[in-house]
Amino acid sequence: MARDNPNDLAGESPPRSIVAVYPGSFDPLTLGHVDIIDRASRLFSDVVVALSETTRTKRFSFSTEERLAMIERVIDPYPNVKVVSFGGLLTHFARSIRATVLIRGLRAISDFEYEFQMASMNHTLAPDVETVFMMTATKYSYLSSSIVKEIASLGGNIAHLVPDAIHDQIVGRLGPKS
Ligand code: PNS
Repeated sequence: MARDNPNDLAGESPPRSIVAVYPGSFDPLTLGHVDIIDRASRLFSDVVVALSETTRTKRFSFSTEERLAMIERVIDPYPNVKVVSFGGLLTHFARSIRATVLIRGLRAISDFEYEFQMASMNHTLAPDVETVFMMTATKYSYLSSSIVKEIASLGGNIAHLVPDAIHDQIVGRLGPKS
């Protein structure tokens, strides 16, 4: 279709259908995560938020079901985004849904080493699945789920750090009990 302005891609689909997986623990989802989901939803035809059910190092504050329900509420406005939980290897999950892209947000140099190791390992496991890094928006560069949990547990304000739709649930679970 002819366009008046060739740079105006608004409303057009990407040139080919690409399923991208955005994996993580999301314990809980923060506005930094939502920023990545929002931007990824404009780049890829389908974005699957892949919620890790297990972890080697962390104890989750929210169950898989709770994290799934919180993400579902937040992604509701995005027709091409869905959330699925997975156990086992991320690359196995990605292949099972025919995803060819893994999305990771990069906040700072400190993220780099871990992300480099993970992307390199995932590449050896599944060379056909490409990791794509997106720089986290500057205003969220200091934000992490752990810091949100710490602030909430000490009675601090987290309203500017997490989506409105899940704010009360997070404070209700983690906030100081009076
Ligand atoms: O939000 P997180 O905790 O940084 O997410 C880490 C996650 C879930 C993406 C990573 O631990 C993962 O991929 N786990 C699944 C198991 C796996 O595939 N491990 C090998 C990665 S090299």
